[in-house]
Amino acid sequence: KETRELHDELLAWYQRVKRDLPWRRTRDPYEIWVSEVMLQQTRVETVKGYYDAFLSRFPTVEALASAPQDDVLAAWSGLGYYARARSLHRAAKEVVELHGGRLPANSRDLSSLPGFGPYTVAAVGSIAFGLDLAAVDGNVARVFTRWTCREGDPRTPKALAELRALGAELLPHGRAGDWNQALMELGASLCGPGSPDCASCPVERLCRAKQEGRQDELPPRRRA
Ligand code: ADE
Repeated sequence: KETRELHDELLAWYQRVKRDLPWRRTRDPYEIWVSEVMLQQTRVETVKGYYDAFLSRFPTVEALASAPQDDVLAAWSGLGYYARARSLHRAAKEVVELHGGRLPANSRDLSSLPGFGPYTVAAVGSIAFGLDLAAVDGNVARVFTRWTCREGDPRTPKALAELRALGAELLPHGRAGDWNQALMELGASLCGPGSPDCASCPVERLCRAKQEGRQDELPPRRRA
């Protein structure tokens, strides 16, 4: 079965190449949550410079929830997109008030927290709690677009809904956290927006765009 091969090849590749990043050394849901919020609009190299300092300043959900907003924004300065920091702060307060300071381990309660859209719910749910949820961001959407030779812009709401459904079908049960991170890593490295490095790709054989020689033209650069 092809999906099985896809799982085995990509997960083995990820184990081999995965970088030693601070948020990959923890199992603390709060620490994983902070990393996913930072990584949403900021590059890994930049996040590395702020992550440990932020967690030293706010080591727990309670510490973050009870801090003045100005302190949170000051610790965030350099990362940009401050709306993320405000949502994180508000969500921390809700986690303390509604969930006793522990991030809830189910997608319904996670989804109701400020800043938890489908991507964040799936990323935190899968990595921190092992939930079988597909985290489809722009990088992963591009990878899926190439795997399936999907036409059109993968970033429209309709395309994203379809690609999320595909992501759910492709999920290896019980291994969603590593799987999601493997896909992010592939999209951030070999299968980037420019010319993909298919020769180094662990799933080259299973990629329809590669089979059809269209890996450089899919997805289209601009809204088709
Ligand atoms: N981008 C989003 N989440 C990530 C993670 N856990 N590791 C690396 N890059 C990411």
